Amino acid sequence: MLQLVQGNIAEERSCAVVTAANAQLAGGGGVDGVIHRAAGPELLRAIRAIGGTPTGTAVITPAFDLSRQGVRYVIHAVGPIWRGGSRGEAEALAGAYRASLRLAREHGCTSVSLPALSTGVYGYPLDQAAPVAVRAIREELEAGEAELDVRLVLYGDSAFQAFERALAAHG
Ligand code: APR
Repeated sequence: MLQLVQGNIAEERSCAVVTAANAQLAGGGGVDGVIHRAAGPELLRAIRAIGGTPTGTAVITPAFDLSRQGVRYVIHAVGPIWRGGSRGEAEALAGAYRASLRLAREHGCTSVSLPALSTGVYGYPLDQAAPVAVRAIREELEAGEAELDVRLVLYGDSAFQAFERALAAHG
């Protein structure tokens, strides 16, 4: 099941919460800053120990202090930097969503919350990112056997509306 939610992803109570990371796993601002603040300093130590992951992939760590609100894992997904749309951005963005859902499933989660990857600092236009995200999530949900409750947590009206339009067109 795919659900759109408007709000702050750091307040989610899903089994896994996804953050928008970079390929160096160096920690950052935006969603990543909010999630690291909520999870505490051990989260940064955990991703530094992993060292890095290519664009279009994701890694998983414990949720540290976020476990106080029921979150078991943080998934660090690396979306692409927008470079005009002809540099494989859509494939990489879809890959980051699919990898995140797969990791959640492999770790026994039946619920996962994700942000709109790449649509902040990485500059992916919302209207183009939303259909790619919705399609990738739908495909992964159809491919898996177990039920997975997917919550896309969108920050602000324009993000929410872009995803609503994508869901209406592709849902
Ligand atoms: N909850 C949900 N969504 C949020 C929140 C929040 N608290 N704060 C910001 N967002 C939204 C942004 O509005 C944007 O639509 O998350 C989306 C992703 O934005 P970024 O966090 O900037 O992620 P991204 O564009 O993928 O850039 C990743 O930024 O922080 C660095 O280390 C990170 O280098 C990486 C890059």
